[in-house]
Amino acid sequence: MFFVVFSILISTACGLDNGLALTPPMGWMTWQRFRCITDCVIYPTECISEELIKNMADLMVSEGYLAAGYEYIIVDDCWMAKERDENGRLKPDPDRFPSGIKALADYVHSIGLKFGIYEDYGTKTCAGYPGIIGHLETDAQTFADWEVDYIKLDGCYNNRSTMVDGYVEFGKLLNRTNRPIVYSCSWPAYEEPLGIKSDYQKLVETCNLWRNWDDIEDAWTNVTNILKWFSSNQDRVANYSGPGHWNDPDMVNLVF
Ligand code: GLA
Repeated sequence: MFFVVFSILISTACGLDNGLALTPPMGWMTWQRFRCITDCVIYPTECISEELIKNMADLMVSEGYLAAGYEYIIVDDCWMAKERDENGRLKPDPDRFPSGIKALADYVHSIGLKFGIYEDYGTKTCAGYPGIIGHLETDAQTFADWEVDYIKLDGCYNNRSTMVDGYVEFGKLLNRTNRPIVYSCSWPAYEEPLGIKSDYQKLVETCNLWRNWDDIEDAWTNVTNILKWFSSNQDRVANYSGPGHWNDPDMVNLVF
């Protein structure tokens, strides 16, 4: 018992000290099911929109997911307009999110859930929407102003040599907003498949969780490939997982 308490103390003391994700964050995100569906004429109930998020949020509550601990609803890629606004701030697609992100976060909070959103440490997101490079401070403040609780920061379209420093800098800027925001990093998923061994100590100090490997897909072989990576690399990565900082096999709720 003493050993367990002692190790928890050590791991939290050395980690990102924002007091969040003391257990692995649980929730639901749009990507696996709804991808980048943006045509609401052809797919009115499936396009990435405030209506979709509200419907899914309602279901998370009425179907008992929130009661079971799935507290985050996270909008993945494709929520943005193709351009920033005249002040350089991110804005959502006006047709699909006519009430704006703050109003959506308010709705999500009003039914007892927490609200998460996606951006990318790059010049563009993986699906081609505005990326965060050149706007780190503005975007951290925008997310705080919108009362976001969780950010997934992806890693498409960047220069690998400055990527890790960029993630570290954005983490500091998030902390500086004083809003508690879970910080999900993706940089190992852009290093490990290239044979680069990520700096897990830096991940612990910077992020609440991090994607280690490939995207999960709706196929058993893909799930087993992810499991194979974790079983082959567990001796190297397992010790870095603990309260406040977790390995993330991508939407698979397993604690490695
Ligand atoms: C990458 C990520 C996915 C998803 C898409 C969105 O592929 O790994 O999880 O966020 O981008 O474009």
